[in-house]
Amino acid sequence: MALLQIDNISKVFGKTKALDDISMSIQEGEVHALVGENGAGKSTLIKILTGVYSPSEGQLHWQGKPVYVSSPKDAQDIGINVIHQDRQLISSFTGLENLYLNKPYPKKGLRINWQAMKKEGAELAARWGMNIPLQKTVSDMTPSERTMLEIARCMMSESKLLILDEPTASLTDKESELLFQFIERVRNEGVAVIYISHRLEEVISLCNRVTVLMGGKLIKTLAKEEVTEERLVYYMTDGQTSVKKGKQTKRTNGKALVKVQDLKTADGTVRKANLELYEGEILGVYGLAGAGRTETMEAIYGLRKVESGTITLHQQQVPKPSPSEAISKGVVLIPENRHEDALIMNNSILENMSLPILKRMTRGGILQKKEEKSLIKKEMERFQVKASGIHQTVGELSGGNQQKVVFAKALLTNPSIYICDEPTQAVDIMTRQEIHQFLRGQVGENKGVIYVSSDLHEILEISDRIIVMSEGETVANLQNDHLKPDDILEICYRFQKGVVTQ
Ligand SMILES: Nc1ncnc2c1ncn2[C@@H]1O[C@H](COP(=O)(O)OP(=O)(O)OP(=O)(O)O)[C@@H](O)[C@H]1O
Ligand SMILES: [Mg+2]
Repeated sequence: MALLQIDNISKVFGKTKALDDISMSIQEGEVHALVGENGAGKSTLIKILTGVYSPSEGQLHWQGKPVYVSSPKDAQDIGINVIHQDRQLISSFTGLENLYLNKPYPKKGLRINWQAMKKEGAELAARWGMNIPLQKTVSDMTPSERTMLEIARCMMSESKLLILDEPTASLTDKESELLFQFIERVRNEGVAVIYISHRLEEVISLCNRVTVLMGGKLIKTLAKEEVTEERLVYYMTDGQTSVKKGKQTKRTNGKALVKVQDLKTADGTVRKANLELYEGEILGVYGLAGAGRTETMEAIYGLRKVESGTITLHQQQVPKPSPSEAISKGVVLIPENRHEDALIMNNSILENMSLPILKRMTRGGILQKKEEKSLIKKEMERFQVKASGIHQTVGELSGGNQQKVVFAKALLTNPSIYICDEPTQAVDIMTRQEIHQFLRGQVGENKGVIYVSSDLHEILEISDRIIVMSEGETVANLQNDHLKPDDILEICYRFQKGVVTQ
């Protein structure tokens, strides 16, 4: 008997059929991966299983009996724990408070026993070698800290079914490894896991079975022995795409676009960053969590206060870095945290995308609406944003499609320097290729790209040159001539002084 039986589930949002007659089963002790292009319906299915949405049609059976999961609490009560793609933490609470969100606080008499909570939280983190600043407010945490916190929260209560929607999207390899160990352990205890990821190599190594969704329909379920990356991509795209790796161009000796010397930020997250970006190259930036990659990018863009050191853009030193200064020098930042920094979720695609071009599209004080719309439509098509139209609210788009909008919006500013911080986070493998090819094309036109990613394979695939950061310092600068993952990891660990405690 299956742990969970999904029978003929459909879900309709207005005119969109997000799920179309899905039937599948989840067995005890299996890791069942769900894959599919952006907008395929993966997260919608998860939200139905966890009581966030109710199905338009269909029925669930739990351990052989019909079940109605009408709220997240219902799901939890029967033993379903989940990490949603849009992380579900209360940002004004501390890490510790979030850990206990759905659990009774330990008490001492009538009072909350903070001491016991702290101890339990610290023990949990230590047991798994996690480095989570539990005392910090969630709004001050990095995306990877937030994910680790959600994972820790899942570890606190017993599950029969654990659902992870894009858990590794902002995690480094080391952190992902901790997650995989946890998955292995719970699987051995008979817990079922539904695992969603666009990182197909993860899917292949973790899963017992994989189900492919496309356009809301279930295309195929494959057993472990049948799964290969080529086959998955084949089913995900209906045979339309094959896996192509981005091709590196020969590095030209262009002019320096960006020069950062001995950069130190006022908050101490960056202590000594040095980098140069030349015309015509993609510079990869890699480092373990807490290395200061994002913070360095923010400092270059003028979002983080600089204490000492210099930033030079197009051979001109920037005395007072600020976003407006950066923008005027042709810099665009594609931030890591799209929810807070890049998009206004309640606004439409049109409203979000028109922000950077309002000035350009206004002539004689009149906004050229037609021109604006056609430009925006063109960029949406380039990245194949799946939406009902330019008036759809961004918050209603699938995670990967939101990221595509961030990218499309950035392009409208016609930049010469791209700073991309985890730009392919949560996008499907086809879009990832498109983004890589697009950036390749851009550097071919003497632009430059700084590319931050936690995915080492991606960094090696796309970069002409790679710098490695550790604890706020640049510790290596390497030409990417046949570099291997181990070459980079070895450097990271050599310079790391206890960032992850184990
Ligand atoms: N609340 C909503 N309102 C309207 N449409 C929605 C809503 N939630 C999802 N959709 C639509 O349903 C479809 C499936 O979205 P879903 O988020 O399930 O995709 P996904 O497979 O998780 O994609 P991704 O890989 O990008 O995360 C998309 O077309 C999306 O725009
Ligand atoms: Mg999703």
